[in-house]
Amino acid sequence: MSACSEVFCQLDHWLTKLRPYWQFMPFACPDYPWRDSLPALAEWLDDLPEAEIARFLADPQALRQAVSPYLPEIDHLAQLSVLPELPARTRSQQLWPRNLEAGIPGRKWHQILAFHAAIPANGLPWLEWCAGKGYLGRVLAAADHQPVVSLEWQHSLCTDGQAIAKRLSLPMTFQQGDAFSPESASLVQPAQHAVALHACGDLHVTLLKQVAVRQAKAVSISPCCYHLIRSAQYEPLSEPAKASQLVLTKHDLRMPLQETVTAGQRVRKQRFVEVSFRLGFDALQQFLQHSHAYLPVPNVQKALLQEGFEAFCQWAAEKKGIQLPNGIDYRHWQQAGEHRFHRVERMELIRQVFRRPLELWLVYDRAMFMAQAGYQVSVGTFCDKPITPRNILIHAQLEK
Ligand SMILES: C[S@@+](CC[C@H](N)C(=O)[O-])C[C@H]1O[C@@H](n2cnc3c(N)ncnc32)[C@H](O)[C@@H]1O
Repeated sequence: MSACSEVFCQLDHWLTKLRPYWQFMPFACPDYPWRDSLPALAEWLDDLPEAEIARFLADPQALRQAVSPYLPEIDHLAQLSVLPELPARTRSQQLWPRNLEAGIPGRKWHQILAFHAAIPANGLPWLEWCAGKGYLGRVLAAADHQPVVSLEWQHSLCTDGQAIAKRLSLPMTFQQGDAFSPESASLVQPAQHAVALHACGDLHVTLLKQVAVRQAKAVSISPCCYHLIRSAQYEPLSEPAKASQLVLTKHDLRMPLQETVTAGQRVRKQRFVEVSFRLGFDALQQFLQHSHAYLPVPNVQKALLQEGFEAFCQWAAEKKGIQLPNGIDYRHWQQAGEHRFHRVERMELIRQVFRRPLELWLVYDRAMFMAQAGYQVSVGTFCDKPITPRNILIHAQLEK
């Protein structure tokens, strides 16, 4: 068994065993799903002050240490979620055209340099999948003097990217097209190194599948937006993932991206108002309709939130075709919403512990799929998290 499949199988084991702690929708749960099975964890969360939540969200290691006395299994998951930093090759930028980074936002530029430094130079033409304006392609073309074909869906990005490439005299050709079309598939060639930086969900999966079918020499991707898939639920790629008992919904697949950024006071307050209003309305509608089912309400204009809870309920009831009787004690339902908000926040805190392990489960599925297709695969991080939290790189290279 390869190192990837060994780690995958262990991740799969623990994620499956610990499903009740992450695979649920906090909004739809009136109480912790573990209230009876692990009451000590429920009590600890109930007593957790607000300030501690903010601290734990900013410090995943402290969070894990605090939760592990109740759920010691998460230590295994944490160990399995460590990735090596990929070695960065130094590359001379001396011969790069001046202004190569013009118009590229600072963080993106650092991502691109790090991505480029972490992938081998094979001396092959490049295919840049879902290229945007071809920021990465620019560096590839400038550094390796090999032609770059940049596939992108949006016309305007292709036009802009092509104009910049022309100005910088870079050997780049933009191809406007849909990554899912047969025409785009035919851009994948055997003597080629394909790259995809942050192509969402099925877009990067499609590239991997085409590379595997057409046996392109090498592919390097940094995956993101795992939930942007065309099927109703996740379709595993590799044999070990197909054999797993885990069935991942889009809600589950969003989890790796839900890195609760430690927002400022104002944003936290706004979130508290909106989410507690939604949960308060939900508690009210469940009471009125004798239901136990969460009823999602569409996006709301932020200005409406300033009109108060009662106005919000009237708007939401109209959207959902619910008749609100006279004499509702709005204060009571608002408080119920606030109470549920605190609980939802604490449920999300526990789900945070499983975020990176689930991302790695998905990443290893991709890596094992390429290994099955005959590729030598490496997985690691190509930059630090502040540059981008989606900092994982999968590189697959044909062995022959
Ligand atoms: C998140 S951006 C990444 C862009 C670029 N790789 C980068 O890192 O800056 C994803 C790109 O995929 C493009 N895209 C979305 N759907 C596509 C499709 N079906 N075919 C080709 N490109 C697509 C979008 O227009 C967007 O430019």
